[in-house]
Amino acid sequence: PKVYLNGDILAPDEAKISVFDRGFLFGDGIYEVMAQIGGQFLYQEAHIDRLQEGLQKIKIDFDVRLLDTEIPKLLDAAELHGKDCLLYIQITRGVAPRKHAYPNQITPTILMYATAQTLPDINDVLAQVVSMNDFRWSRCDIKMTSLLGNVMANEYGAQKGCYETVLFREGLVTEASHSNVFFVRDRVVYTHPENEYILSGITRKIVLELCAQLGIKVMEEAIAIEEVVKMDEAFLTGTNTQIASIKQWDDHFFYHGDTIEGVTKELQWAFKELKE
Ligand code: PDD
Repeated sequence: PKVYLNGDILAPDEAKISVFDRGFLFGDGIYEVMAQIGGQFLYQEAHIDRLQEGLQKIKIDFDVRLLDTEIPKLLDAAELHGKDCLLYIQITRGVAPRKHAYPNQITPTILMYATAQTLPDINDVLAQVVSMNDFRWSRCDIKMTSLLGNVMANEYGAQKGCYETVLFREGLVTEASHSNVFFVRDRVVYTHPENEYILSGITRKIVLELCAQLGIKVMEEAIAIEEVVKMDEAFLTGTNTQIASIKQWDDHFFYHGDTIEGVTKELQWAFKELKE
C-alpha cells in the first residue's frame, strides 16, 4: 500500500507524523471513509462535502477541492485506479506546542491511504448486536478522529462476539459504533433524525433516497429501547457495512432462519443496483 502525506506519496513506513501533531495529541481532526466500487467512489460528492462541513465545524482551514487532484495521484501510485478499494482521508489541525486552544498559524496535516477491498454485492451477514448506553459526547455529528467512545462501545460488542454495539441515549436508539441503525414496522422505515446525537451517514442518506424511490414510508423518529422488540426488522448502514440485516439484538431475535427478507432485502437489492 501507499500513503499520501502532505503532498508526498510514500511507503507506509516512510510516512512520519510529528508527535506534536494535534491529531495525535488531542484527536483534533476529521476523517472520511469512502468506497470505490465499479470504477467510482459511491457518493463521492456527499463524502467530500461532509468532510468540508466537519472541518468548518471545528475551524480547520482546508479546502477539500484540493483532494480532487490528490486522490487520483494516490490511487495511481497504489495501483488502485478504478479498482475496488476503501479510501481513508484524515485531516488534522497540524503540529503545534500542546495547548488546548486552536493555534493561530497552523498548517493542517493531510493523510490518505487506500486499501484494496471488494465489498460483497449484498451484505448477506445476519448481524448480532448488543445494546448499551450511549456515553459519547453530544457532538456525534462531527466525524472526528477521536473515536475512543466508539472504539470502547465496539469492543463491548466484540467481546460478546457481536458485529456491532447499538447505542441508546435517554432510552432512545441513536446509532451504532460505526454505523447507523434502522427499523421496519408494518413496512414503515424508522431511523433517528439527523441531529447532534448521530453521524449523518452517507449510506443512511442513500437508504432514505431508495425508500423514496421504492415508495416505502420513512419516519425520521428515534425508537425507544423497549419498542425494539416490537419491530419487524432492523438493519445497520455504513460505508463498509453497506446494509446489514440485524438477526439478533441482545436476547431478541428478528429472524430465526438464515434468509434476509422483507424491506431490508428490497433495500439491499435496490442498493446493489445503484452500485452497478
Ligand atoms: N463509520 N455512524 C458512525 C458513528 C460511523 O462511524 C459511521 C461510519 C456511520 C455510517 O456513515 P457512512 O454511511 O457515511 O459510512 C454512522 C466509518 C465507515 C468508519 O469509521 O470506518
